[in-house]
Amino acid sequence: MSDKVLTIIYGTETGNAKTLAGQVAKRAEKNGVAATSCNMAECDAAGLAGIAGPVLFIVSTWDDGLPPASARPYFKALAGLSSLPGLSYTVLALGDSDYEQFCKAGADLDAMLAKLEAKSFMPLSKLGADFQVSYMGWAKNFWGALAGIYGISK
Ligand SMILES: Cc1cc2nc3c(=O)[nH]c(=O)nc-3n(C[C@H](O)[C@H](O)[C@H](O)COP(=O)(O)O)c2cc1C
Repeated sequence: MSDKVLTIIYGTETGNAKTLAGQVAKRAEKNGVAATSCNMAECDAAGLAGIAGPVLFIVSTWDDGLPPASARPYFKALAGLSSLPGLSYTVLALGDSDYEQFCKAGADLDAMLAKLEAKSFMPLSKLGADFQVSYMGWAKNFWGALAGIYGISK
């Protein structure tokens, strides 16, 4: 099994976060990284304690600053954990800067993880309505950060 692993956990309402998760997973395969993806609607926040390797969270914002409805139980469960000191993570937040609470769910997730003592390997990134374009710049930085962790080509 590859020692280069990546876990992608996404929360989505209309599929944009899932699309980006798929794009990251495809690139991971090309880079020889074993990626696994999970929808927050279907995975358990308590499982984060057992994850080895970096975790990428991708989450959109809805309803004046809330996570997608299907991701709310995951957020709630995460808030109930005591600590995640072994977790290495970054958050990619999706939103639209026309809304006052731009990318708030992603920012809240980042703050929750920091409070749980998880270690961020790349600062929170916020992508707006042009996310497919700005994703490219984000991906360059992301794979640069992972190259630092794994020594992989970008
Ligand atoms: C009704 C509605 C409410 C939204 N509310 C917010 C918001 O409060 N903050 C924000 O940054 N983006 C907001 N958005 C933008 C979405 O987060 C954005 O379209 C995102 O790409 C959706 O990703 P998803 O398909 O993965 O859920 C809203 C969009 C709609 C249609």
